[in-house]
Amino acid sequence: MARVVIVSNRVPVPSFRGARAGGLTVALHDVFKNGALWLGWSGEIAAETNTKAKIEPSGKFDFATIDLSEDDYKRFYVGFANSVLWPLLHFQPGLLEFDREDFEAYLDVNRTYAKALVPLLKPTDLIWVHDYHLIPLGMALRALGVKNRIGFFLHVPFVPASLFAVLPPAEALLRMLCTYDVVGFQAHQHLHDFEDCLLGFLNVAHQRGSPIVIDGHPVHVAAMPIGIDTRAFARQAKKAMQGRAAHRLDESVQGRALMIGVDRLDYSKGLPNRFEAFGRLLDRFPEHRLKVTYLQVAARSREDVTEYQRLKRELDRLAGEINGRHAEFDWVPLRYMTRAVTRSSLAGFHRQARVGLVTPLRDGMNLVAKEYIAAQDPEDPGVLVLSRFAGAAEEMTEAIIINPHDPDEITEAMHQALIMPLDERKARYEKLFEKICQTTAATYCRDFIAALSAGSNGGNQIT
Ligand code: G6P
Repeated sequence: MARVVIVSNRVPVPSFRGARAGGLTVALHDVFKNGALWLGWSGEIAAETNTKAKIEPSGKFDFATIDLSEDDYKRFYVGFANSVLWPLLHFQPGLLEFDREDFEAYLDVNRTYAKALVPLLKPTDLIWVHDYHLIPLGMALRALGVKNRIGFFLHVPFVPASLFAVLPPAEALLRMLCTYDVVGFQAHQHLHDFEDCLLGFLNVAHQRGSPIVIDGHPVHVAAMPIGIDTRAFARQAKKAMQGRAAHRLDESVQGRALMIGVDRLDYSKGLPNRFEAFGRLLDRFPEHRLKVTYLQVAARSREDVTEYQRLKRELDRLAGEINGRHAEFDWVPLRYMTRAVTRSSLAGFHRQARVGLVTPLRDGMNLVAKEYIAAQDPEDPGVLVLSRFAGAAEEMTEAIIINPHDPDEITEAMHQALIMPLDERKARYEKLFEKICQTTAATYCRDFIAALSAGSNGGNQIT
């Protein structure tokens, strides 16, 4: 089998301080047990952005990392990637801070990634590029003469054509996406929006499921939802219940019903509305007073981006306000922490929680929704409250589905989840568990690699 070469902005090098286990990391790490090369940013700032990658073998992976200069970090990562593409692709055009020099740096850093990768490539490698930071990488590799098959997967949503038009280099980015051999999306809605953009910007029309070619180049496009290793996470959650963290949480909750939210501290996650909804739960349904504890783990993220600093101040204020208004001398209703918690502790916390709150305003997939369900005790499962705007909602229809823009609707869902009888909890859980056993990290990788290996045979094709 051909070697797979993964390129993503973050790489899960185990030796990194504060290495993060995001959805991609978890999905890929579990699957490529037979080895792969993984290139990305070291997370370090250096005097110069370097084109010679540092190689670090770790288990069956070879990690290759490059450093970014301060200027590239600011313009590529903080700037175009996280102050333009991230807000736009999460339907927040009002937050865009476009600057042409940032876009130039974005293209430049992608050329650097390409230069760093070329000397490491074998002719038969399958190259799999991940996420919005690296849209131009396929084109940059082709410009250096790379002939390998190259695929791209977008982990965040795609937007309708009228919204994509807000982006000054919209057409250029679409053309860059069309230089890949395979382009994958988390959800069918994202795929359809992308297809509408092709029609609107490039005048490429096609019937869904039929091939199209742009400039003679066929592109296979498909929705391939990411998943987790469900059974392994279920085992981890069960085991975590014996651990110290689970015991400490259990003791501190003192028999109250626990509601949990686990998110990066990001404006796409809908946290202010979730906090507001919790405050309203205690006002509108006083039977829950003293009987429920809401734990929100909101790991700090992208702290150099202004909007994230503003959000943190808002959440600090809201948490203080809600607790000030509702707490009793022996009960703090909202526990809000911005420190990261290990994945194994979280597995146990999910299992302890009667309600899982996943209410993003927009999300590519949201693996926390899947982890929450995987972690449940089948004999006494909790209830998932899920935003209709998370990619996960396309599959996980037995959750309580809410519109995250309406705090009252979230409040009512919290109440419904807290009082839901065991029979209904079990029925919903069983269907959800079965679904997340069918779409896993392994099926996601297998489907993408199959499409990338297969070339232009079958499926939708664009050009
Ligand atoms: C999202 C993105 C990933 C990103 C992660 C963490 O899940 O889709 O590409 O790596 O957030 O964000 P960060 O900016 O810390 O890499």
